[in-house]
Amino acid sequence: MRCGLTDSLETAARTAQQQAWAPYSNFRVGAALEADDGTVFTGCNVENASYGLTICAERAALVSAVTAGARRFRRVVVVTDSESPAAPCGACRQVLAEFGTGLQVESVGKGGRRSWMLSQLLPDAFGPESLG
Ligand code: THU
Repeated sequence: MRCGLTDSLETAARTAQQQAWAPYSNFRVGAALEADDGTVFTGCNVENASYGLTICAERAALVSAVTAGARRFRRVVVVTDSESPAAPCGACRQVLAEFGTGLQVESVGKGGRRSWMLSQLLPDAFGPESLG
């Protein structure tokens, strides 16, 4: 609980949301992912005329983080303009789970916010350990 203090991750996610490329859905998403050393990586959704090739904000943030060498993460904040906070899609849950399901996932909508552990959003995940 952050008790009304300005959440820098939320601010970072809002800044990323402004860069969203969402001409087809007009659903703009920003994400800010905090690594275990406090570094913050952001992403926005990037849609494509070939709709299925759209990249979600959460995965964009993760790819940016991994590219910079980050491997352990504490928290991700997702911002949308929807009334109710949007939970990450299934593909993003799986991709985030690659680096552990102990990630705190927060979503902020216009009407409120929700928080989960990734392990709640993706129970019994298939992960690196599943490969034996
Ligand atoms: N989207 C995300 O960026 N993250 C999610 O977890 C769900 C959906 C994007 C994909 C697409 O550009 C738009 O939201 C509508 O689905």
